[in-house]
Amino acid sequence: MRTFSIAITGKGGTGKTTVSALLVRALVDAGETPVLAVDADPNSNLNEALGIELHETLGYMREGTFRESIPPGMTRNAYIELCFRRAIVEEKGFDLVAMGRPEGSGCYCFANDLLKTCMTLLGRDYRFIVIDNEAGMEHLSRGTIGIPDILIIVSDPGVRGMKTAARIHDLARSLGLSSVPVLLVLNRFKGSTADSLIPEPALFIPEDPAIEKAELSGMPVGSLKEGSPARVAVERLAGIIRSMARERQRT
Ligand SMILES: Nc1ncnc2c1ncn2[C@@H]1O[C@H](COP(=O)(O)OP(=O)(O)OP(=O)(O)O)[C@@H](O)[C@H]1O
Ligand SMILES: [Mg+2]
Repeated sequence: MRTFSIAITGKGGTGKTTVSALLVRALVDAGETPVLAVDADPNSNLNEALGIELHETLGYMREGTFRESIPPGMTRNAYIELCFRRAIVEEKGFDLVAMGRPEGSGCYCFANDLLKTCMTLLGRDYRFIVIDNEAGMEHLSRGTIGIPDILIIVSDPGVRGMKTAARIHDLARSLGLSSVPVLLVLNRFKGSTADSLIPEPALFIPEDPAIEKAELSGMPVGSLKEGSPARVAVERLAGIIRSMARERQRT
């Protein structure tokens, strides 16, 4: 099966990381393994949402490493691949790699390049890639995460949230991503929404008190109990994505 990549975007604090973590778990539970979870937010916290400790990030890697420390007899590409594999945390059914924050200059170019190379080099080994993005469209506009197979825009169900979601959608189109299917996810739904603004298709994730409880007790939100409303909704989302991946396989 060809790798199917899912980019989770949206404005700040709408639930991108929560949805990413629950989606990774849902895909793994459905047997769609292996999954690669990519934390493309320099303020990495997808690992916490998944209950994993991070040892290394791509941003931590130094540019010089790739020029000066190549072991004798090894090609540069093989060495880069080895470094990437070291940055990957392996879990049951999925792996996680985090972009992290570059040290020193504060320039993200090298970290962005690493993320791009890492996904190109290692991405093929996975059935699904779930990319948790920072707020905004940085990675999509720079092409860091390539062209995803689906763009998920997470929004709150209010008017402002949905207007932002519509802007992200327009921006994606203007970046030449018109062929990429977009799914709007309205998170923290409490029973009402700015109906007139909802574009089709949209999926609702209810406000789930179990998420706050998990956060307060330091439990990973990705491991919500079975039957918990947000988990059930994301399982539905995983079902939609799996059908799309199967459909694409046929074409
Ligand atoms: N369905 C939900 N029910 C209850 N709380 C939620 C739900 N979804 C997310 N939250 C809470 O909302 C807050 C923001 O979620 P999250 O960190 O996933 O957003 P984000 O979009 O990744 O934020 P950032 O832009 O900072 O990366 C968190 O405290 C999270 O626990
Ligand atoms: Mg986040």
